[in-house]
Amino acid sequence: MGKIIRFWSDILEIRFDKENLPQVNHLLTTNDGKTYLLVKRIIDEQTVRAIIIYSSKPININDQITNTKQSFMVPVGKNAKNNIYSFEGKPLLDDRNTLPKYIEMNSIINNERYLNNENEIIETGIKAIDFFIPILKGYKLGIFGGAGVGKTVLMKEIIFNVNKANAKTSNIFIGSGERSREAIELFNELESSDLMKNSTMYISKMNESPGARMSIVPIGITASEYLRDIEKEDVLLFIDNIYRFVQAENEVSASLGKKPSVGGYQSTLESDVANIENRMFKNENGSITSFQTIFLPMDDLSDPSAVAVFNHLDGNLVLSRNQTAKNIFPAFDPLASSSNSVDESIIGKEHFNAIIETKKILKTYKDLEDVIMILGFDELDEQSKRIVKIALQLENFFTQNFFMTEHFTKAPGVYVSLEDTIKSVQRILDGKYIKQSPEIFAYVGSNLNIPTDEELNL
Ligand SMILES: Nc1ncnc2c1ncn2[C@@H]1O[C@H](COP(=O)(O)OP(=O)(O)O)[C@@H](O)[C@H]1O
Ligand SMILES: [Mg+2]
Repeated sequence: MGKIIRFWSDILEIRFDKENLPQVNHLLTTNDGKTYLLVKRIIDEQTVRAIIIYSSKPININDQITNTKQSFMVPVGKNAKNNIYSFEGKPLLDDRNTLPKYIEMNSIINNERYLNNENEIIETGIKAIDFFIPILKGYKLGIFGGAGVGKTVLMKEIIFNVNKANAKTSNIFIGSGERSREAIELFNELESSDLMKNSTMYISKMNESPGARMSIVPIGITASEYLRDIEKEDVLLFIDNIYRFVQAENEVSASLGKKPSVGGYQSTLESDVANIENRMFKNENGSITSFQTIFLPMDDLSDPSAVAVFNHLDGNLVLSRNQTAKNIFPAFDPLASSSNSVDESIIGKEHFNAIIETKKILKTYKDLEDVIMILGFDELDEQSKRIVKIALQLENFFTQNFFMTEHFTKAPGVYVSLEDTIKSVQRILDGKYIKQSPEIFAYVGSNLNIPTDEELNL
């Protein structure tokens, strides 16, 4: 038993007997179970500092506190699938009749990586991703962008497309500090597509305490580790949004009175991020392939939180407001995005060369944009005109209708195989459509059915 001796904002100091002193990250409760506290600091051999995770009752000095002697308990494994859980591990749906197994958060962290050079590409059917940033099993993809540029929509499209192509996938979704409506929508979509049976969702909403929002990410990662290392599965892990995790850690750090560092972020920013990022990988047991959205405050890619995450990723996909302004969806920015899978030995010479050639053309076009704005397209030399035209054709070609947006765009979603995407890009690069308007490629699937100039006798 402990006793509250002081409290301010959402921090409490609690005194225990020496032999009962809790450890950092242990949960404490009040006797009536109406309040949950998480130990964040040991002050001395009798005193700890804890943050409020959840409280439905006022707290008073001298209130009795129980040490649960454990951290969050996470529902894991086969029997946890097909449900949504809060940070307390409570299932939101009570009509499922399986009883999940629970393990303690962070109790099975596995640091043993298994190095092998087998690379298995995971096709998403999304042209821009498969072409520019091919996803490999065990890979970490960051989806960066400011508010409303399409991060969540893109992540959902990935979930659905990969599952459709791959019936044995297990999905873990971590909803970290975003709108609860979005999580419910995702659940309904997964349920109606019969994908919930392979999916487990862990949600902490934006209005929950920073302690809850901060913990939901390691909770979901613990569940992913369990599927990978104990049930030997290949897991797709989706996290929306890592920025909210960083922000919650920052709020807790500020409440604990720690001095902030660059840009107002916590001095532990790097290690907070590393502690979660370093747990997602492939090993002999199975794999965790992760897709993580990262909100950019003020659309700024150099924001310290974005940089801290960026350093751990295999690929970064940038969605930009310039693209949405041009009605380009997904608002993918090919020149700002990159991937370490763009390697001839992984994706083959043909694909590799097509990427290099495409990026070169897009870069030249970008450099010419100012000239065109001032002097006009007609003033360019023939060579530059050709490059600009091909660049515009490519830009249009990488637009795509999504299944996830059918309900409001009214345009049917399209899945394009990687093979068709590469062939299509090559046809554009080869100038097979040079006499036709770039518009013909807006929101097409592949272009293999679109007649070339030669076929049209132009
Ligand atoms: N691929 C897309 N096609 C058409 N509209 C889109 C697409 N992606 C996003 N949008 C529009 O942008 C809005 C915000 O997208 P969302 O994914 O919620 O943004 P974010 O998660 O980056 O804040 C959507 O509600 C939709 O209107
Ligand atoms: Mg979003």
